[in-house]
Amino acid sequence: SRSIRLAVIPGDGIGREVVAQGLKVLSAVLPSDVKLETEEYDLGARRYHATGEILPDAELASLQGHDAILLGAIGDPSVPAGVLERGLLLKLRFAFDHYVNLRPSKLFPNTATPLAGRPDIDFVVVREGTEGPYTGNGGSLRTGTPNEVATEVSVNTALGVERVVRDAYERAQGRPRKKLTLVHKNNVLVYAGQLWKSIFDRVGREYPEVTTDYLHVDAATIFMVTRPEQFDVIVTDNLFGDILTDLAAAVTGGIGLAASGNINPDGAFPSMFEPVHGSAPDIAGTGKADPTATVLSVAMLLRHLGYEAEAARIETAVAEDLAARDGAAPRTTDETGDALALRVTG
Ligand code: IPM
Ligand code: MN
Repeated sequence: SRSIRLAVIPGDGIGREVVAQGLKVLSAVLPSDVKLETEEYDLGARRYHATGEILPDAELASLQGHDAILLGAIGDPSVPAGVLERGLLLKLRFAFDHYVNLRPSKLFPNTATPLAGRPDIDFVVVREGTEGPYTGNGGSLRTGTPNEVATEVSVNTALGVERVVRDAYERAQGRPRKKLTLVHKNNVLVYAGQLWKSIFDRVGREYPEVTTDYLHVDAATIFMVTRPEQFDVIVTDNLFGDILTDLAAAVTGGIGLAASGNINPDGAFPSMFEPVHGSAPDIAGTGKADPTATVLSVAMLLRHLGYEAEAARIETAVAEDLAARDGAAPRTTDETGDALALRVTG
């Protein structure tokens, strides 16, 4: 019989609340012959304050033994900015070589967005996940003086760029429109821009059916608002991808719907699925958090593990649920989870 060994990191703030709903829908959608084994990891602000630990090696090793990881959110105002983000979230992405950070955007019905009612917005950002300015390759000279100089170097390797670009071409090739847009800033970031562009062009010769396009990142933000239907697959570096996917979420239904997968396509390490949103400490514990982004991340997790039918059932349930919500009273986190769990079984 089949089984899923799932590691669960609820994390901070609303992370625990939304993850509970994700697991609820996961249990509801799985066929009865699939055995779901979850192991929860106590990582995040609570653990850090209690023990000083962020991500001990033993836990990293234990996480590695799972088929996938479901993560809620990391970060808390009681911990200095960056400590948990770097020590936990980014450490996981780097340690498990999550070089494809996959962030789909689709305009669902009845969503409060400036683009509501526009048809055919359905694109996916393939954000590089292990390089760029996220590598921690920086420093400061004459720190704290009026003459301080701080650098944060963006690291781009030919191998790192090629593997993510190739993944993006594969995804574009598999979609009806077969279009791939490279987003960078090669008019200013000359060396990194040239590396990305030359690899993008070279790999593209192996995918003659894929139509390609290049946009500077600043222009891409304009088109994401004015002509989002022109995008199919976007490939970009770690930092541009971070910024662009928050914008993409905002224009296509809000951060409450944005799902993501930190993928290790080689399968050497477990991939990790998480909502794009953060821990939202301001609404933690109020029951206001929308668990839909986490539920959609569960759908991505299922698709990654080969459960395509179940993934599609979740996505249909979310679309139906949003369509049915026109003008309805706000629901609690738990009520939304219940509604989605009911739809995937019904
Ligand atoms: C995201 C987040 C993270 C990132 C932060 C919390 C380190 O913004 O997943 O988009 O920058 O990648
Ligand atoms: Mn972000």
